[in-house]
Amino acid sequence: MTCRVVVLLSGRGSNLRAIVEARLPIEIVAVIGNRPQAEGLAYARERGLTAVVLDHTEYPDRAAFDARLADEVAQHRPDLVVLAGYMRILSPAFIARFEGRLLNIHPALLPMFPGLNTHERALAEGVKIHGCTVHFVTVELDHGPIVAQAAVPVRADDTPDTLAARVLAQEHRIYPQAIRWFAEGRLVNVDGRVNLKDDLASQSVLSPGT
Ligand code: GRF
Repeated sequence: MTCRVVVLLSGRGSNLRAIVEARLPIEIVAVIGNRPQAEGLAYARERGLTAVVLDHTEYPDRAAFDARLADEVAQHRPDLVVLAGYMRILSPAFIARFEGRLLNIHPALLPMFPGLNTHERALAEGVKIHGCTVHFVTVELDHGPIVAQAAVPVRADDTPDTLAARVLAQEHRIYPQAIRWFAEGRLVNVDGRVNLKDDLASQSVLSPGT
């Protein structure tokens, strides 16, 4: 049975593009965006995917919007919900409804640098290694069980933009990989630690030498 995936996004959609181009054993049953102008929605339409706009500014508060969003997502009967640059905090009610089948990508090596402006903060701290993390979403922001990470070096001449670009290239590798593992039923969550079935040496740390 093909894994039915709903993608939520707010902007550019480069991770959506990487997921589509990876030709995974999944069916993207809907792409839902909270900003009508999101490039990711335009890309979804171009690819013939079902693209849905739910504009959060038309709702009185987060609870009302998230209730509508959750109903929309559920209507597509997803096995997996993928946050791909979805730039709104999800309410606990939404997360509870999809917990265990809700993935996010965060542009930092969690638990370092949860929240926004991760590349600026990494440069300000002078860390020498930065990266990205795919994790299951739980109510604590950017803290759920980690599925995959990729590390990149920080260069002395980096700006937030150059660092972001280096990290983004790795996001485009590990997000499709993590989704493939989920779709293949290979992710095993043991007490908040995610292992790869039949591979306890765990390939879930991806650390390119670039
Ligand atoms: C990525 O950096 C992702 O880590 C973060 O938001 C950005 C989305 O980029 N959550 P895109 O819309 O996929 O190009």
